[in-house]
Amino acid sequence: MDNSDGRRLSVSLVDVAEGHDAELQAVAISFEALFIRKEYGRAEMIRDEGHPRRYYAVRHWIDATAAERSHHDPEVQALTARLYHIARVTQVVNGVRPIEETRLLPSDRRAHVEADRRTGFDRRLKNATPPEGSRRTGNRRLGPRRVRDRAGQVDLVAAARRAREHADAAFSHFKVGAALEAGDGSVITGCNIENATYGLTICAERVAMFKAISEGHRVFTRIAIVADTEAPTPPCGACRQILWEFGGNLDIQLANLTEDKGRHQLKDLLPLPFDARLL
Ligand code: THU
Repeated sequence: MDNSDGRRLSVSLVDVAEGHDAELQAVAISFEALFIRKEYGRAEMIRDEGHPRRYYAVRHWIDATAAERSHHDPEVQALTARLYHIARVTQVVNGVRPIEETRLLPSDRRAHVEADRRTGFDRRLKNATPPEGSRRTGNRRLGPRRVRDRAGQVDLVAAARRAREHADAAFSHFKVGAALEAGDGSVITGCNIENATYGLTICAERVAMFKAISEGHRVFTRIAIVADTEAPTPPCGACRQILWEFGGNLDIQLANLTEDKGRHQLKDLLPLPFDARLL
């Protein structure tokens, strides 16, 4: 498929933390200059007049190839990391995502992901059932594999810390934030949300994953989880299942408000998982 089929657009909501407007302006100007210098297209930061600390980050890429190049540009990644330190960023329009999201990955990652990923209903409809007779043979590994090399530069932990501020934990008072990185480099955040009947509570990790799925993401690389405790807060059993089924063998970064608390691979936290391959 031709990769230079016209311009691409993406829009994110940027809610800047109090006192960081000047830094945001600086980041915005750097993005603008970088996009011009590297001929990616145009990057602009538009202020929402009705909302004191809200901006819209708009990226106009000249084509899908420019978008792909920019996603893997260390300068873009460093600026994005600065942005996530000072703002909560919510992707609204991801125009760069082609029908096959994996096309935006560098070819080495793409090969891995395409070979192994089986997400959502695709698994049921396409390849959940192995050919007759092969079900118990071969070097079978449960669940999709996830590539973890070339981890992005975005500070996922910082994004999870900011997401945690929105947790609605009126009953447990245990606030959790999560930040999930998609294959195209975008970050989708979540926080835990509790309710008066308790049982409908949803964890930060599942909020992040369901938001991501609902926005069209299908490939994921990492997730960061943050709580305000000395001991690390690993994902609960229900979240491990959902993360596995939709995200595969994610890299998991645990942290509290001030320090890192460990790094794991999901396959180690969920040995012998149940997934669509067993249906
Ligand atoms: N919680 C999460 O959001 N993620 C975790 O990894 C562990 C637990 C939430 C659920 C509930 O709102 C509160 O933390 C206490 O269990």
